[in-house]
Amino acid sequence: MAYLSPALNVMVAAARKAGRPLIRDFGELENLQISQKGPADFVTSADKRTEQILVEELTRVRPGYGFLAEETGAIEGKDRTHRFIIDPIDGTTNFMHGIPHFAISIGLEREGQLVSAVVFNPVTDDLFTAEKGHGAYLNNKRLRVAARKNMGEAVIATGLPFMGKDGHARTQAELKIMMAATAGVRRFGAASLDLAYVAAGRFDGFWEHGLSPWDVAGGILLVREAGGMVSDLDGRTAALEAGHIAAANEVLHPQMLKLLKGAAAANQ
Ligand code: IPD
Repeated sequence: MAYLSPALNVMVAAARKAGRPLIRDFGELENLQISQKGPADFVTSADKRTEQILVEELTRVRPGYGFLAEETGAIEGKDRTHRFIIDPIDGTTNFMHGIPHFAISIGLEREGQLVSAVVFNPVTDDLFTAEKGHGAYLNNKRLRVAARKNMGEAVIATGLPFMGKDGHARTQAELKIMMAATAGVRRFGAASLDLAYVAAGRFDGFWEHGLSPWDVAGGILLVREAGGMVSDLDGRTAALEAGHIAAANEVLHPQMLKLLKGAAAANQ
């Protein structure tokens, strides 16, 4: 059975509650794909409504906790020691295109340390949870990062910058090096699930630039509690606010950082 602290229980209940209307919205989107206007407005309101449900539910049971949420930004709480970090729909582009790979991500910080995490894909009903010191789970199955030690056998996930984002040349340099060094590079489109898949041993590693704390808060704890290493791309452990991240097991993590450093040098 997954270990659920009282706080984690509350987070799971909030994610499940917010997930139900999101599944209905996702069904609606199939019809909207063919309209000229496209589903952008619809998705924005789904995003906002999901965040509102999460904030309301979590505030009801944990009044006073602060928030950092994608749509609303920072909400200061009376209790300065606790903060929920929320992405209502991580993988918004997938959601908008009817691709069932997106997640509600919630991380809880206590005294600046991530202590509880939920990453929930409501369509597949994959519920990833982690509690500091008590392991990471997919539904009720305990997770462990993959044990592969050679980059040549590793499948590594990443994120690619799109129109309007910077870092295209850097990404091309990184891909050139990673494609040549690994068994495959994947771009699935939801950073929280990329990290959850590293925790589950599905991906051997993950790196990305240009991320926000809400994209990674839940996933960072999942990987750490599954026995993996997470850092920023300079190897510092404070990966939450850095905007760039690398995650893998303890053998592949330094190898990934070295390869990516090589890519940075090649891109100078
Ligand atoms: C995005 C996803 C995506 C990553 C982007 C993020 P959002 O989050 O995590 O995988 O490549 O950088 O912004 O916007 O869908 O919450």
